[in-house]
Amino acid sequence: MNAIRTAVFPVGGLGTRFLPATKALPKEMLPVVDKPLIQYAVDEARAAGIEQFVFVTGRGKSAIEDHFDRNHELEATLADKGKDELLRSITDDLLDPGTAAYVRQMEPLGLGHAVWCARHLIGNEPFAVLLADDLIHGDGPCLADLVATHARTGGSAIAVMEVDADEASRYGIIEPGDRTDAGIEVLGMVEKPAPDEAPSNLAIVGRYVLRPEVMELLGSQGSGAGGEIQLTDALRGLIGVAPFHAVPVRGTRYDCGTKLGFLEANVALALSRHDLGGDPRRVLRAILET
Ligand code: G1P
Repeated sequence: MNAIRTAVFPVGGLGTRFLPATKALPKEMLPVVDKPLIQYAVDEARAAGIEQFVFVTGRGKSAIEDHFDRNHELEATLADKGKDELLRSITDDLLDPGTAAYVRQMEPLGLGHAVWCARHLIGNEPFAVLLADDLIHGDGPCLADLVATHARTGGSAIAVMEVDADEASRYGIIEPGDRTDAGIEVLGMVEKPAPDEAPSNLAIVGRYVLRPEVMELLGSQGSGAGGEIQLTDALRGLIGVAPFHAVPVRGTRYDCGTKLGFLEANVALALSRHDLGGDPRRVLRAILET
């Protein structure tokens, strides 16, 4: 049996970096090639055995609910026209009835607050958190690695990647301990440290498997970096109570929370496709050569 059944997707953010595109469209619905960002995160969760999907939303995010719901009119039209492949593209990815839940964050108080808003749907089970901004491509689903670590240790696990020293202040940075078969022991962590205060070059990527005790910690967590209730700050309270490991990301992580990272993801994923009705490599080369 899979010990991690539920995943939380914090999708309440305003997406101001992508205005005006995100004025009426949730940033999680921005497409990378032809799939919205949130779909990549949900697919990765599914591949890790997740069965329940909790979206922590906010105002103006109803397109996410519609995306995972059936659209009978569109399905009927595609079926009538014999467009079977397109029909599959909108039905294969549907979530099973009753497995998606939506809670509203109501106030933009930070990632920690968003996760805490899901507490009544989580109960007393360990759970996963996926940040859709972080798109991870290739070399095995990242969340599945964290689930495997949890299965070995019974503790918490987070994904990490190496970053340059001048980028550390954009991330949560861990203080690493011993490297074991289960992963790198986590001794501490700090959210968005000043360049000279980063405890290592290992940055947290938006994939977590957490013990449920974190919800109580979040309930009393004051605001931290940027004046927001930070998940990283509450996670410190889990260290030492039960095993806590960091697992290096396999594959490539694209930061789709920035314009350049989003562009990079689109280019990289387009190059990995052979069904775009042309040769993306040739198109890109032509642009670069002019
Ligand atoms: C969040 C987390 C941070 C993590 C990052 C990964 O930050 O708070 O610890 O390193 O995601 O993308 P945000 O990007 O929301 O500022």
